[in-house]
Amino acid sequence: MRAAIINQFGSSDMLTVVNNHPSPKIEDNQVLIRVYAAGLNRIDFLTRQGDLKGVRGKKFPMILGNDIAGVVVERGRNATQFQVGDAVYGMIDPNPSLSWTKFTQSGAYAEFAVTREETLAKKPDNLSYEEAAAIPLACLTAYQALLQKGQIQPGKSILINGAAGGVGVFAVQLAKAWGANITAVCSERDRELVTSLGADSVINYKEENITDLQRQFDCIYDVAVTTSFSECRHLLTENGVFISNIVNAGNFMSSLLFPIGRMFGFRKFSTFAFVFPSGEDLKTISTMVEKGDIRPILDKQFSLDEIREAHDYSESGKARGKVVINISNEAQEKRP
Ligand SMILES: NC(=O)c1ccc[n+]([C@@H]2O[C@H](COP(=O)([O-])OP(=O)(O)OC[C@H]3O[C@@H](n4cnc5c(N)ncnc54)[C@H](OP(=O)(O)O)[C@@H]3O)[C@@H](O)[C@H]2O)c1
Repeated sequence: MRAAIINQFGSSDMLTVVNNHPSPKIEDNQVLIRVYAAGLNRIDFLTRQGDLKGVRGKKFPMILGNDIAGVVVERGRNATQFQVGDAVYGMIDPNPSLSWTKFTQSGAYAEFAVTREETLAKKPDNLSYEEAAAIPLACLTAYQALLQKGQIQPGKSILINGAAGGVGVFAVQLAKAWGANITAVCSERDRELVTSLGADSVINYKEENITDLQRQFDCIYDVAVTTSFSECRHLLTENGVFISNIVNAGNFMSSLLFPIGRMFGFRKFSTFAFVFPSGEDLKTISTMVEKGDIRPILDKQFSLDEIREAHDYSESGKARGKVVINISNEAQEKRP
């Protein structure tokens, strides 16, 4: 099959497109997908650079990418949720079972990809394959962070730092759909975008330091990872929660020890987002997409042959919204 592979860690120059990569074989609980479009995420660059070799290994050749939209072409004996021919999308994990670190493997930049069936959901009918591939990892990150950690409900106030990035645009839309009052932090060029997505007020981080704000929030979601719990504690309401998009020793220990801390009167809470593939969560997201509550923001699309340019463009920070790879012409032919 055609695939973009790396044979060593490094810059985007390490990405090579080959025509004869062996197609993946499926286990009983897995499905094989003909990939039409794959989405790029920051984790792809980190993997390519070797920053995640401790959790993702260093077995070459390696195919990067976790976000796919495509069609089921084969299913294992115990994979019964989907029929061959179903249009699906998801954050894939080629591991036959979730690894003990909970880290997924990659494998999306290829004509065929394998994943456990429970990582997938049916593609929303109102989206093209390219649009669908722009959703899974970023939207699941925001969904799981805000629902499970932030417990966002109607009337809660939330500050979203990095509101116009890959994860941030979904965080704003989800928080809006759940009835929160949203303060979005982004640069001036993105003010209009985040307002159109549902932000109630906007702060330009280049002009105003959020730690100087005179307001408090029930939840601060630091998507851009540019601040910390200690810097933002005074911005939290009495039972406020600070969610970082990165796991570090501080927020890991704080998460673990919070129930004990609460017994000693500590109320403000620091925790972290850690995305995991979930077809169930994606099903809810699909319903929200079909209702018009969430839309993906697509920036540029590239072909598989342009994979190096796609990485360079996305990594440069110039993209507004998602960068997507068209793996097959059918991605365009099958637009709704
Ligand atoms: N924990 C998890 O499970 C998980 C999952 C997904 C992503 N992540 C991590 O989350 C982070 C964000 O991911 P992403 O995909 O959203 O990245 P992204 O698309 O690159 O977006 C980052 C956003 O942050 C903004 N930003 C940069 N500097 C800022 C500052 N000083 N203050 C406020 N905003 C600032 C950028 O705005 P400009 O365009 O103006 O520079 C951009 O809109 C990354 O570090 C990624 O690795 C973690």
